Amino acid sequence: MSKRIAVIPGDGVGPEVVAQGLKALKAVCPKLEFETFPWGSAYYQQTGQMMPADGLDVLRGFDAIYLGAIGWPTVPDHISLWGLLLPIRKRFEQYVNLRPVRLFPGSTSPLLGRGPADIDMLFVRENTEGEYSGAGGRVHIGTPNEVAVEVPVFSRMAIERVIRYAFERARERRHHLISVTKSNASRFAYVLWDEVAAGLSSQYADVRMERVHVDAMAARMVLRPQSIDVVVASNLFADILTDLGAALQGGLGLAASANLNPEHRYPSMFEPVHGSAPDIAGTNRANPIGAVWSGALMLQHLGFTDAAQRVEAAIARTVREGKALTPDLGGSATTLELGDAIVEALLP
Ligand code: NAI
Ligand code: MG
Repeated sequence: MSKRIAVIPGDGVGPEVVAQGLKALKAVCPKLEFETFPWGSAYYQQTGQMMPADGLDVLRGFDAIYLGAIGWPTVPDHISLWGLLLPIRKRFEQYVNLRPVRLFPGSTSPLLGRGPADIDMLFVRENTEGEYSGAGGRVHIGTPNEVAVEVPVFSRMAIERVIRYAFERARERRHHLISVTKSNASRFAYVLWDEVAAGLSSQYADVRMERVHVDAMAARMVLRPQSIDVVVASNLFADILTDLGAALQGGLGLAASANLNPEHRYPSMFEPVHGSAPDIAGTNRANPIGAVWSGALMLQHLGFTDAAQRVEAAIARTVREGKALTPDLGGSATTLELGDAIVEALLP
């Protein structure tokens, strides 16, 4: 059966990398139908909104959303983020933000002497609440007495569902899960998180669970990356740690992500980890691999497992051969040329 994909290329390099992703998806899976929406910062300039008022209702009818990047210097970042990306993640209960961190053979990690066997992690980020709950406010605005309050929200339900998801993924991999918190300094939310994790741990006796504080985790990712397999963490902590992860795997341009509603009640959304990269937008230099790989995660979620594996293998092959790499990977190829090389590597 065909699947309908809503495409939101967005801002900056978003449209450039999404175009490459679409080429690969079309080459590998004829069962996808695409509809493109021009939402984002340019749309905001014209209409005062990042997407139309009924945007979520429109997206609700699709099987998945494929997104480039949102954000541009002319629109404050908190407006662009809260006007499009975060409402989609929250409203569609995309409670898992899945971010694989994998060093492809042929690409270089900034960690001296580390290879693909050392860097192969899967981050499961809580994607609906925590520090990005949106609860808070400002009073006495603009005066010397101004106060801002930003309240993290942690619910047992949301903690439990994301940790359970992470345990399931750990079962499919190396049976090891690291739960990241800061439950020494934070006395309430992360203590609840630890309790829920411990409770679930007894249901997954075949998975070894470790608790690690976020500061120690940052150091461990650099010093002992090979000791890390599946990681589950809050919205803020995993946001930060996965940028470090992206660096370990050779750069932000490579990093892929899936915003999942695992139950398929709502469409899930697939996007590269990077933003709109205003500094290189329009120069045809952006690395499309993060976007293409996110497309593979979409294929996987929609049940096209073979096609997903083919795309990942084509990315790996293109990186290994190293003939058409963008400047961030040390090459001189354009976005388009790297996209073409991946499509070529897809062909038998
Ligand atoms: P960014 O990810 O856009 O750029 C950070 C650095 O990485 C820049 O030097 C950029 O050139 C480089 N880079 C990013 N993507 C690349 C690619 N595909 N190939 C090669 N190099 C790449 O993050 P920044 O500069 O903090 O944010 C720019 C805008 O993007 C902001 O408006 C921000 O809010 C937004 N943003 C949106 C995200 C999203 O849509 N999910 C995620 C992160 C940022
Ligand atoms: Mg981030």
